[in-house]
Amino acid sequence: MRIAVFASGRGSNFAAIIAAAKRGIFRANLSLLVCDQPKAGVIAKAKRAGVKVVLVRREDFSGKKDFEAQIVKNIQEYKIDLIVMAGFMRMLSHEFVRRYRFKIINIHPSLLPSFKGAHAIKDAFDYGVKVTGVTVHFVDEEMDHGPIILQQAVSISKSDTPASLEARIHKIEHKLYPLGIKLFVEGKLKIRGRKVSIQ
Ligand code: GRF
Repeated sequence: MRIAVFASGRGSNFAAIIAAAKRGIFRANLSLLVCDQPKAGVIAKAKRAGVKVVLVRREDFSGKKDFEAQIVKNIQEYKIDLIVMAGFMRMLSHEFVRRYRFKIINIHPSLLPSFKGAHAIKDAFDYGVKVTGVTVHFVDEEMDHGPIILQQAVSISKSDTPASLEARIHKIEHKLYPLGIKLFVEGKLKIRGRKVSIQ
């Protein structure tokens, strides 16, 4: 099985996925990093790990259609079976999601369906919830919405700050995402409607 990671940022999840693959947590080839930000830290991490980097800058294409067509070309060229979104800060078109239905997974730093969006950790902290967490899910046409694969709760204590909560959530992400990938790679995820069961 061949995996492409899509990322736009520092790439701590990317690094955790690479480390998990090296440790044999799952058996798949990390074949490609697709990144839309030339200055993203994830690019250096991929190069160090010997993972092929494809940089696709949205502004180099006249429209979203052409931008995504270039990504599809790369996915086909590298014979990708699973797309792992790890902080890719762009919504994929409905057409793209339909083409790769149940072959794209994402990680989100809250217990979905609570606190969707780009500021989930701070939003949960500011709201005053006592429990938040991490979700690994399939990607569908709506943002932070598709069928849920794995979730792990994180308690928020009186002494927490947004920074301490964020650090704890990232630590959990780095364990949970490789487990989600492992379940996919081993064919253990069965989807019925929007419910995913683990066989
Ligand atoms: C993570 O918090 C992930 O949940 C969200 O984007 C962030 C990416 O962080 N989707 P990193 O680039 O992997 O460090």
